[in-house]
Amino acid sequence: MSGSTIVLIATVALVGLGALFVFTTSARRDRAAALDRARHEGTDGDVASGPTGRAVERSAEAGRQAGAGLAVPATSAPPALRAPMDPEALGVTRRQFLNRSIVNFFGLGLAGFGAASIGFLWPTLSGGFGSKIKAGKLDDIVSEINATKVPFYLASARTWISTYPAAAIPKAEQAYSGAVLEGMKEGVVALYQKCVHLGCRVPWCKSAQWFECPCHGSRYNRVGEKKGGPAPRGLDRFGVEVKGGFILVDTKEVIQGPPIGVNTTGQEAEGPHCA
Ligand code: FES
Repeated sequence: MSGSTIVLIATVALVGLGALFVFTTSARRDRAAALDRARHEGTDGDVASGPTGRAVERSAEAGRQAGAGLAVPATSAPPALRAPMDPEALGVTRRQFLNRSIVNFFGLGLAGFGAASIGFLWPTLSGGFGSKIKAGKLDDIVSEINATKVPFYLASARTWISTYPAAAIPKAEQAYSGAVLEGMKEGVVALYQKCVHLGCRVPWCKSAQWFECPCHGSRYNRVGEKKGGPAPRGLDRFGVEVKGGFILVDTKEVIQGPPIGVNTTGQEAEGPHCA
């Protein structure tokens, strides 16, 4: 099950629970209010048929002044039975129904907006930039690069996959680590297409066999090490894993390019520059 499906299901469940909560809370509140109202009306009924508190107080005061005991007027009628609650009061009035509908629709709208925002911001968990992307068969990609003398461009990963010479591995071990070094040991490096100077997309210059940025002239060799221009370091890159003969480019993390001066392959320009 993909991440976006999980988010969708979780959101629907949350919205359902929220609506249920709002509905039951308002129903409980209405019922309590109706009971209060009925109780209040019942008390009034008693008052109407029996002596009031004020009458009792007046009678007591009169008795004190006359030196007699407390004279409480006898009740003329037995206590009135509490009036049965009005079933209408316990039900849902039109106003309550409208209020609840407005609250529920507002809640649903808010939840929908929240779900859409989460879906937009959630990192793509399968196949897109920000995940591990399958580039293709290692052997096929290396053969294609060697045949065309052009690095393999993987648009979904915004990456140039370039070959890394086995002879340079001892030097690479001094400058690189982790998944970048592991990829180099497999014979490839995945370079982020974005220039580390000001972010232009860096194209391949076939004549020089370097990456050369058209914006301000930064140059990088075949494995993305800086050779010239204003760039502050080599091209940023991604970790590479080879699984079952397939290259996986891990675009979850952009790994910073090597500092100026790192030149593990010693590859010089092989022809005229493009920028
Ligand atoms: S953006 Fe590439 S050199 Fe400036």
